[in-house]
Amino acid sequence: MLNKHEGFHSVLMVWATLVVSSEQHTANISSSFFSDNRPFKAYANSTKIVETLLKHYDKRIRPGVKGSPVEVRVDMYVANIWAMEEVKMEFTIDIYLRQYWRDERLAFGHLTSDPLLTLSSNINKQIWVPSTYFLKTKKAYFHDVTTENYLLQIRPNGSIFYSIRLTITASCTLDLRRFPHDTQLCTLALESYGYQTTDVWYAWNPRDDNTSAIFVNNEVELPQFELVKVEKEAVINKYNIGNHSSLVAMFKMKRRIGYFLIDTYVPSTIIVIISWISFWINPDTAPARVALGITTVLTMTTLISSARASLPKVSYVKAIDWYLLLCLIFVFGSILEYTFIAFMINVRNKSKRKPSVDSEWGDGSKKQEERTEFLSLFTPKCSPRRGNALKRVFSQAETDSLGVESKTFPEKTEREKWYFISNPHTIDRCSRIGFPLTFFAFNCIYWLVHSKGST
Ligand SMILES: *[C@@H]1O[C@H](CO)[C@@H](O)[C@H](O)[C@H]1NC(C)=O
Ligand SMILES: *[C@@H]1O[C@H](CO)[C@@H](O)[C@H](O)[C@H]1NC(C)=O
Ligand SMILES: *[C@@H]1O[C@H](CO)[C@@H](O)[C@H](O)[C@H]1NC(C)=O
Ligand SMILES: *[C@@H]1O[C@H](CO)[C@@H](O)[C@H](O)[C@H]1NC(C)=O
Ligand SMILES: *[C@@H]1O[C@H](CO)[C@@H](O)[C@H](O)[C@H]1NC(C)=O
Repeated sequence: MLNKHEGFHSVLMVWATLVVSSEQHTANISSSFFSDNRPFKAYANSTKIVETLLKHYDKRIRPGVKGSPVEVRVDMYVANIWAMEEVKMEFTIDIYLRQYWRDERLAFGHLTSDPLLTLSSNINKQIWVPSTYFLKTKKAYFHDVTTENYLLQIRPNGSIFYSIRLTITASCTLDLRRFPHDTQLCTLALESYGYQTTDVWYAWNPRDDNTSAIFVNNEVELPQFELVKVEKEAVINKYNIGNHSSLVAMFKMKRRIGYFLIDTYVPSTIIVIISWISFWINPDTAPARVALGITTVLTMTTLISSARASLPKVSYVKAIDWYLLLCLIFVFGSILEYTFIAFMINVRNKSKRKPSVDSEWGDGSKKQEERTEFLSLFTPKCSPRRGNALKRVFSQAETDSLGVESKTFPEKTEREKWYFISNPHTIDRCSRIGFPLTFFAFNCIYWLVHSKGST
């Protein structure tokens, strides 16, 4: 019993010491925390400043109400320009939009000597901010990972710096007449949605460090374009509800032709050259020549459709279309050439088989034809004059041997010419030179026209 009593006492004692020590511990913590009192006071001071500033603040009313319009200065840092999409006629840009304005209600110079007040946590929803929006945007978003991406700083005199990060997909009307030798101008325009020029005025920020108000990251690299120039402009858009101040950033981009050279120009040129192989193949081997001709035409067609697949269906003819059309015409031309030869061979075979109506010298003409053919095989150049001269000698001899009167001579030269022209070998020989020369000439014209205009 006594033991029990003692035990009870000891339990009480332990409990009491525990309580006292724990109290002492908390006291120690709080005393060490508040011992010097300074940080706590700093929090209290800052809170007090913000509370004082926002106490009678009405964010629905613009700074300097009823006075002169608020001047909002803007500059932007272009972090990236994403690929241009020709089919949708749009481009995507990643920017840090910085707006500067002055709100006298937020001047805190009289409350503290701090040079800057940086605020967060929805402060942009508690004070007035300009209702800036972007024109012609298809989609735009404000980044909010991990927290909303904005920065808001207030200077003692009430000057506000407000920076937000945006990704904007804006439409850009492309003129593809000169594609792929084109230079495109894409604009990004901002304007105040809620205020007219009498209330809000936008201006590009004249930066103190002499850099442009639109600063483009050096690492911006578009796969197909080269950023040639960035220009800026301040305009007033007149709507029937009033005038709105607007700022326009213009990005001039020149297309790089490299991709199209590899993808379209070189292959199509090679196909045209392949189609010329046909001129060196014996006209009698029809399967070889027809197969070559048709294969090249089909390949050309495939190339044309693949080149056009990634472009919008515009109603005008683009520069690349002209080139591909030219190639197609040349490839088709080589088929036509063979068709003509095949036709000539047929006519000849027929005329060989059945005697000529003019039986008097039908036999002679056959002989002459053979000779012409034989002769043309040894004519080194495609020079009709030389061939004709030689032939005239031959035909003269022929005429003499056959004893045909001189009055039929003009008719004969006509025939002679016809035979010369209709000779498959002559046609091929002319084509071997004519086709490459014309193609080269057309190429010269095409590249001259387009290299001049694109600079
Ligand atoms: C409380 O603080 C005093 C002096 O400030 C110290 O002597 C004592 O050990 C502290 N107690 C604990 C529990 O930290
Ligand atoms: C808090 O404000 C008072 C004046 O209101 C000032 O004297 C004091 O130094 C401020 N404290 C801090 C930590 O800024
Ligand atoms: C406000 O102060 C900043 C520096 O703190 C200065 O750059 C700015 O010009 C001032 N604005 C006005 C309107 O006085
Ligand atoms: C900006 O340019 C002006 C005159 O052109 C010059 O006086 C000033 O020092 C320049 N500022 C900087 C930061 O380079
Ligand atoms: C818009 O500006 C024009 C002059 O640029 C002016 O004549 C017109 O009255 C203005 N409209 C409004 C609604 O302020």
